[in-house]
Parts: sequence; C-alpha cells; structure tokens
Amino acid sequence: MNARLTSFKTIEWRNDHVVLLDQRRLPEEEVYLECWDFDSVVDAIREMAIRGAPAIGVAAALGLALGAMRTEARDMNRFVQEFRQLCDRMGTARPTAVNLFWAIRRMERILHSLRKAGVDEAIDRLKAEARAILNEDIETNMRLGEAGRVVIRDGDTVLTHCNAGSLATAGYGTALGVIRAAVAEGKRVRVFADETRPRLQGARLTAWELAKDNIPVTLIADNMAGHVLKRGEISLVLVGADRIARNGDVANKIGTYGLAVLARVHGVPFYVAAPVSTIDFTLSEGGQIPIEERAPTEVTEIGHQRIAPKGVEVINPAFDVTPHRYIDGLITEQGILRPPFKRAIKALMG
Ligand code: MRU
Repeated sequence: MNARLTSFKTIEWRNDHVVLLDQRRLPEEEVYLECWDFDSVVDAIREMAIRGAPAIGVAAALGLALGAMRTEARDMNRFVQEFRQLCDRMGTARPTAVNLFWAIRRMERILHSLRKAGVDEAIDRLKAEARAILNEDIETNMRLGEAGRVVIRDGDTVLTHCNAGSLATAGYGTALGVIRAAVAEGKRVRVFADETRPRLQGARLTAWELAKDNIPVTLIADNMAGHVLKRGEISLVLVGADRIARNGDVANKIGTYGLAVLARVHGVPFYVAAPVSTIDFTLSEGGQIPIEERAPTEVTEIGHQRIAPKGVEVINPAFDVTPHRYIDGLITEQGILRPPFKRAIKALMG
C-alpha cells in the first residue's frame, strides 16, 4: 500500500491552481476546493478546509506560488517587496504548526537566491519550489513510516488522537503512515481513534481515511481512553505533532498530553511521529510554543447545534504540550530519536 494508491488527494497542484479536499465536509461529502489565488489558500488554512501540520506547510508554499504568479510587479525590487508581504500574511493563517513557517522560509530562501534574476524566472522557481515541497512531503512520510514500523508488532492495537494521516499531509501520513507501513509489511494492526473534540478530527477524518484503506478502526469518545488503556486493550499510543521544541517537548492536538500521562501510568509506550520540518530548532522548550486559541462556538456547539447555555465562559486552546519525559520516541524520516531528546535533536542539527 502506498500514498499513490489512496483514492483521494489531500492537496495537489493542477493546471496552475491548487485543488484541495475540503476537510470540513468530511465524512459526509468528498468535495474538492479549487483555489486560484493566494487569498483563497490563506482562507482554506485559517478555516481548516486543510489542516494538519505538514499539509498546512504544503498549502502555504503552493499559496505563495499562486500569489507570485498573480503579481503585476515588473521589476525585481517591487516583486520581492510584494512577496515578503504575502509571506507575512501567510504567517498569520494559523500559529502553532511550525511547518507553515518552515515552508514560508523555504520559499523566501529561494527568492533570496534569485536577487539577480528577472520576475518571470523568479515566479517559475517559486512554483517549482512549492511543488517540490509537496512531492517531498509524500516521500518524507513514506521514509518516516519505514523508520517507525518497527515499533508496531503483529497483532497490536494502536491508539491515536486527532488526524495524523494522509489528510494531515500531502499523502501517506505521519502517525498513520507508520501504521500503513506496518500493515504493508503484513502486520495485523487495529487502530483505536479518539473522536478528538472539539473539531472531531478523529471521528470525521481518521475513521474515514482508515476505513477507506481497510485498516480496522474503532472509534472512541475522548473520555474513554483511560478506560481502554487500563483494561490493557492498547499496545501503543502513536500521535503526530504540530511543533517540537529542542528538548523534545511536543505540541499536538489538545488532549494529547492527557493521553501521554495515561499511557505512562499504564506502562504503554507513547510515540510521536513527525518530519524533521516539525522540529522548531529555535525553541529550547515547549512552554515557548504559541498555542492557538479558537472560537468558543467550537466548544459550545456541535454541528451548529448549541449544547451549552448561552453566555457560558469557554476556553478553546487547540493544542497542548506534552513534556518530553512522557515520550518514548520521536519517529522521523531520519530514524527514531530516543531520550535524551536534547542530545538526539542537537545531533540532527549537525
Ligand atoms: O487543528 P489541526 O487539525 O490542524 O491539528 C492537527 C494535529 O494536531 C495533528 O495531530 C498534527 O498536525 C499532526 S499531523 C501529521
């Protein structure tokens, strides 16, 4: 099984525009959104038509390529100035997933290397770079899957949170990529998916994509995780990441921290799967990671149906930070990093 065989594409570049699967409509409808300009890609990221750290990075790069293509600037100074403004605007789309900023920096670096080129050449190079970021993401996930599949044994039941699958990347997935790789080598694997309130990525997305690939999946409400871990029904907890600090602290979907603590209490290994582009080498520890706060209605409503009294006070942090001491390994495309993560991550920096 590989990413190219999945029947859907999370995001692609087609005839000079971006086509992405509108994840707000899943699982009811498989509808594709066509983005012809920069603003529609920024909106798609902000409104979570596309989500998941690596997919956000890919979308940002493709959106910037669209922005470059639509420029009216004819001289390079003007073009560079405009492109920098686009980068700044793209950087406001969502705050936590570092892949967004990683992709913006990659695009900026390309432009920087082209100071002596003309506008048309710069546009071509930026388009090529964005498409390279998309293609590399699939390759990276497949390598990450290969590196990580050893943590899964034949017959294991893996608990996951949110969606770290094909839908969260350009294809194949990170945590779900590891599971796909284990299944591809003949291991029997069952997945337990947390529903992942408030946006229900586990119920709407993970259950959908695993069922599509015939990987057995059991959906549980978030508050059932402790119960199934205590009953010994879970062999391994495996999640993705939105940003990893230099000491190995991991920001991921809200609820991940609780799962990590529960896994430790019950002696179940807890692994995080993420590409190296999710490591923020500028941050020494997880407390420095900006946590997105989203609309209160995500908590007070389910599917536009109010489930809480009007005016109730609400907080809605979209992510939490799992301290590195609860993590048994960080699975990357460059291999599995083991504690002490500070040293392992430093070695990656070279
Ligand atoms: O708010 P989302 O849906 O963008 O959050 C996504 C997650 O937290 C994923 O678990 C994470 O990005 C890993 S994706 C490979």
